[in-house]
Amino acid sequence: MNRLRIGHLADIDEKGARTFTVLDTEIAVFKLSDGTLHAVENRCPHKGGRLSEGMVCGTAVHCPLHDWKIDLRSGKVHEPDDGCLNTYKTEVDDHSGEIYITIAG
Ligand code: FES
Repeated sequence: MNRLRIGHLADIDEKGARTFTVLDTEIAVFKLSDGTLHAVENRCPHKGGRLSEGMVCGTAVHCPLHDWKIDLRSGKVHEPDDGCLNTYKTEVDDHSGEIYITIAG
């Protein structure tokens, strides 16, 4: 397991995302309107749309290519579509505001 510092809470706008690449995997970290952070693979399970460019609505992101809706907490695609994304544990240091994610490998 690798715990990586990826930036500061202030770096991500509400309902926005920040991306970074670890071991050939692009990861998007989203900040929801309740302030929670969720890190997911930045690749739609349909045809690979970049989810970081999608619109966040509640706890889901709408893929910019064909509008599949994906829950950012679980990584699951909303019905009637089907699929799942890899998700990554996200932590914020209360004092510094630094963001960490945990990645296997
Ligand atoms: S690539 Fe995401 S909905 Fe088609």
